[in-house]
Amino acid sequence: MFLFFHALTAALLAQSALALVPIGRTASGRPMYVAPNGSRGVQVGNDLQLLAPNGTLLHTFANVVSGGSKRSSTLARRGDVNFIEASTPLTRTDTLQAFNTSFVVPPIPAAFDSQLLYLNAAVLVSAGDSDVPFAEVRAVLQYGANAVQGGSYWSIGTQLELIPDGGIVAISPSRDFDPLVQPGTEIVTSSTFNDVGDRFFRYLTQFPFIPGSPVLDFSFNSPALSVAIGLETVGVVKDTDYPAGSVSFKQTNLTLESGAPEMVWNVSGAGTPSSGGPYLTVDVDGSTNAEFTVHF
Ligand SMILES: *[C@@H]1O[C@H](CO)[C@@H](O)[C@H](O)[C@H]1NC(C)=O
Ligand SMILES: *[C@@H]1O[C@H](CO)[C@@H](O)[C@H](O)[C@H]1NC(C)=O
Ligand SMILES: *[C@@H]1O[C@H](CO)[C@@H](O)[C@H](O)[C@H]1NC(C)=O
Ligand SMILES: *[C@@H]1O[C@H](CO)[C@@H](O)[C@H](O)[C@H]1NC(C)=O
Ligand SMILES: *[C@@H]1O[C@H](CO)[C@@H](O)[C@H](O)[C@H]1NC(C)=O
Repeated sequence: MFLFFHALTAALLAQSALALVPIGRTASGRPMYVAPNGSRGVQVGNDLQLLAPNGTLLHTFANVVSGGSKRSSTLARRGDVNFIEASTPLTRTDTLQAFNTSFVVPPIPAAFDSQLLYLNAAVLVSAGDSDVPFAEVRAVLQYGANAVQGGSYWSIGTQLELIPDGGIVAISPSRDFDPLVQPGTEIVTSSTFNDVGDRFFRYLTQFPFIPGSPVLDFSFNSPALSVAIGLETVGVVKDTDYPAGSVSFKQTNLTLESGAPEMVWNVSGAGTPSSGGPYLTVDVDGSTNAEFTVHF
């Protein structure tokens, strides 16, 4: 009995020593976590478990998988941020294989007011056949600082965002990797289906041409719901908080099990050419070499 108790205590201590605690909060108070590169997320029922590279359980995000309510409207998400995006829904019977895009890091904004800008390419997932996403996995180009990284410069990262308010998990780059990227650098992001023959829909989200960059590895019970490309902003107070000019996402490819689908991209979120703020245009539609521009 004593031995058993001792073993149990040791196990609990080991677990609490490992337990992931939020390292900070987003502007709206959502917790931010950071997990080492090589960590792997797995959906277990209504929970998401985060496993360390050696398989040890780091954290359980309990009950974050919700069926949501059936809604046919656009994505319900991100109450605390402004966003514009081009997105397309996917069919559950034709699994997403790859989603890639390419863009050039824009200039540094003229003003720094602690704003956060995320240019991102994301895969959204929902539970079962719900059309309300509970999570998105994304590769981001970030300007500004969050609890994980950044400053008055552009940096790259991969994140899991629990929707609508469950928090954000960022994958920390390895110790000798500097996430800072200079304006003018060409960035390619990809999310690929890593079919290892189990029952999971496992997506790897990464910067395939940046050695040592953080890889996000998540396994879900259901195939991807939609994909999106766009801009998220927090705390922008004036025009010069944005970079000058525009950013074009080029050579954007979406491949399904059946190949490259016939499809159109839908633009949602704030912004029109006349409203003053940033807006997004679909310059080349379709699933191969599609092109979008975020105009600041
Ligand atoms: C597994 O990885 C965790 C987190 O990196 C570490 O704290 C723990 O000691 C490792 N456990 C083993 C058995 O190697
Ligand atoms: C997407 O990127 C991955 C990783 O570089 C690559 O294996 C795949 O061929 C790319 N797919 C498309 C459609 O560009
Ligand atoms: C998209 O596909 C085109 C044509 O196959 C290819 O040239 C381009 O490199 C791909 N884009 C990315 C980001 O992989
Ligand atoms: C990050 O982890 C992935 C596996 O998830 C690995 O392929 C890549 O090499 C790792 N990068 C570094 C710098 O360790
Ligand atoms: C795209 O947007 C149009 C108009 O806003 C809407 O009628 C259509 O249903 C949307 N398509 C998809 C696939 O969401």
